[in-house]
Amino acid sequence: MTRLRPAAKNCLGTTKDRIAMSMQGKVVVITGSNTGIGLETAVGVASQGATTVLACRNPAKAEAAKQEVVRRTWNDDVHVVVLDLADLASVRKAGDEILSRWDRLDVLVNNAGGTWSQRHVTVQGFEYTMGVSHFGHFSLTRQLLGRLLASAPARLIAVTSVGHRFAAKGMRFDDLQSEEGYQAMEVYCRAKLANVLFVRELARRFDPRALTANAVHPGWVRSRFGMDGDLSGVNGLGIRLMRPFQISPRRGARTSVFLATSPDVAGQSGKYWVRSKPRRPGRQAEDEAAALRLWDDSERLLAGAGFPVDPVGA
Ligand SMILES: NC(=O)c1ccc[n+]([C@@H]2O[C@H](COP(=O)([O-])OP(=O)(O)OC[C@H]3O[C@@H](n4cnc5c(N)ncnc54)[C@H](OP(=O)(O)O)[C@@H]3O)[C@@H](O)[C@H]2O)c1
Repeated sequence: MTRLRPAAKNCLGTTKDRIAMSMQGKVVVITGSNTGIGLETAVGVASQGATTVLACRNPAKAEAAKQEVVRRTWNDDVHVVVLDLADLASVRKAGDEILSRWDRLDVLVNNAGGTWSQRHVTVQGFEYTMGVSHFGHFSLTRQLLGRLLASAPARLIAVTSVGHRFAAKGMRFDDLQSEEGYQAMEVYCRAKLANVLFVRELARRFDPRALTANAVHPGWVRSRFGMDGDLSGVNGLGIRLMRPFQISPRRGARTSVFLATSPDVAGQSGKYWVRSKPRRPGRQAEDEAAALRLWDDSERLLAGAGFPVDPVGA
């Protein structure tokens, strides 16, 4: 049951009851929401009354995050689903659980991601950065598409990065698994380009009155991103030196929360948003042929790994 504190201050910085209640009856799933931008996105939507589902890989961290969201929002309609995007079996299990526990899905926020110094692979052998950021989310989204469409008007939000602009060689379809020379930042930028291209292709395939798909750059955010020893060397040092100049996770979540909740963006699809405003993405992200190829190649690679996607919108 939703228990809302009358003047709960939400992520948009408002205290009005009208806004606090605007997501009641809606189900929002957020990946990687135990910390950082994802956690603050969960607080933002929960404070507006949404049934909030934290889809996270670590059950203990997810449970702690759930307690925090409930404590900060007074909304106890907050739930955990275990989701490891680096294991397609876990993705499928999480998708099944979401489909069985909730009969609607209004907003899916594909937020989880990261960057790793050393090349390593997911359970099914995909390069990890692309495996988590793109292939895991592609698989989850495709499994949940039918439920999103049945809950129309539904919204998909992909947390990308301005870094997608620096994927200088585009998607490099000849080496999607980064086997030929792994450079953490280059691979990260490519994974973030994949997020924007996926959104673009979803927007092309689906009527925005049924499903909108948008990508977000959250800003430079003082989260756990690149910490925890994930990133070493010059890149790791750079991220640490930047920390005093970064914005808080709460501010970093604003555009995701805005896209998840605002009536002003109804029907807007296929866009790239920064500070709650649409912006032109990088040139590579406007490549329709690349968006289509990524869709097709992703389907083929997932099928090859033994996890074919649901044919909705194929
Ligand atoms: N921070 C920035 O400046 C910045 C800038 C641009 C874009 N972004 C994007 O913003 C998104 C959120 O990042 P953040 O800054 O909030 O970083 P964060 O604090 O490191 O949070 C990342 C989240 O992703 C989760 N995650 C990582 N691998 C996963 C997996 N295999 N399965 C499921 N979840 C997984 C993490 O879970 P654990 O806690 O279990 O590791 C964590 O919940 C990312 O997509 C990132 O690329 C961040």
